[in-house]
Amino acid sequence: MSLILEQLPSAEEFFKSYWNKKAFVVRGMIPKDITEALIDEDHLAGLAMEEDVKSRLVRKGRNIEDWRCDYGPFEEEVFSELGEEDWSLLVQNIDQYHPETADLLTLFNFCPRWLLDDIMVSFSPKGGTVGAHTDSYHVFLIQGKGARRWKVAHEPIKNEDCIEGIPLEILKEGFDGEEVTVTEGDVIYIPPKFGHEGVSLEPSLTYSVGFLGPSLSEMLNEFGHYLEEHHENPPRYLGQNLTEDAAPFQISTQQISDFKSFMTDIFEEDYFTKWLTQYFSRPIHTDEEETLPEIEVPDQDDLLVKPPEVKILLAPLKSANKYSVSVGDCSFELDQEDLPLVSAMASEEPFKAEIFKDHPALLNTLLQQHKLDII
Ligand code: SIN
Ligand code: CO
Repeated sequence: MSLILEQLPSAEEFFKSYWNKKAFVVRGMIPKDITEALIDEDHLAGLAMEEDVKSRLVRKGRNIEDWRCDYGPFEEEVFSELGEEDWSLLVQNIDQYHPETADLLTLFNFCPRWLLDDIMVSFSPKGGTVGAHTDSYHVFLIQGKGARRWKVAHEPIKNEDCIEGIPLEILKEGFDGEEVTVTEGDVIYIPPKFGHEGVSLEPSLTYSVGFLGPSLSEMLNEFGHYLEEHHENPPRYLGQNLTEDAAPFQISTQQISDFKSFMTDIFEEDYFTKWLTQYFSRPIHTDEEETLPEIEVPDQDDLLVKPPEVKILLAPLKSANKYSVSVGDCSFELDQEDLPLVSAMASEEPFKAEIFKDHPALLNTLLQQHKLDII
């Protein structure tokens, strides 16, 4: 059973046969002019020295107890003391910091962008690895410069057991899988919970495009906060259907069912759909203190583009021809006839500002919030 496919599956085939089901490798999927423009190790190290950037350094030890994982920001001296082999520098959210790397996202448009977590980039000299592990997300591992040897599981690991007493999640038991060496431009898809382990054969860069579904608790928490902050009249349980059999210390099957309705009726409303669009397009990793410079309103002929790192999501509302749209943390409603606006933004290609001529206030908001760039 070889992991290697002749070519990238069609979107239909991908969801039918691979998404959550099977790992694969596509050789040479990313052209050289794209891989050459991706962030390099020097830039990566520079980011790892910054306060707001999430980074970690994994150092392999002689014995498993000697493995280290340290979190950034790092001082410059740390890098000079690392030695020639057996370490990995991993930096997250590179899609927010390096536009040419963010451009990789459009190559994965067969996946729901609204589930994108981030692009994480790792640099490792020979022997660098984070060990055998699984992830909760779907990941496309794009090999940049250099070569890496990977072992990838054929199926998800059911009872994951990690080595205790070390600062990394490394699988205790090995896993069955296939070994493959990847070089520049090759892409591996790994579904959630499939074991994998990559070891650099020479100095190499790996770009991980991760799609992560939220946990139920995250969604319930976030929806709860949203209700609290945005609902004009947040529903409250008033015990409308209670009778004497609830007193003093019990609830009946009927009352449990009433609670279920109380908690879920709101999911039938447009309110929930609007929350969903804003939830999945919200910027996850923002620099909160950043003050955005004011943007001048463009001429109709000026070209605009939505950068790939800004998420956009569209969902139908209950009334015919009405849609909820979110672009980053800007949410609004549009009629069907205005959907070309969404298509223009979602294309991530330049389009003329005149497309917004009937929605100048919306254009202004999107520009001031830096959801669109003028080029
Ligand atoms: C790496 O880039 O070294 C690790 C990526 C992964 O295994 O998910
Ligand atoms: Co992984």
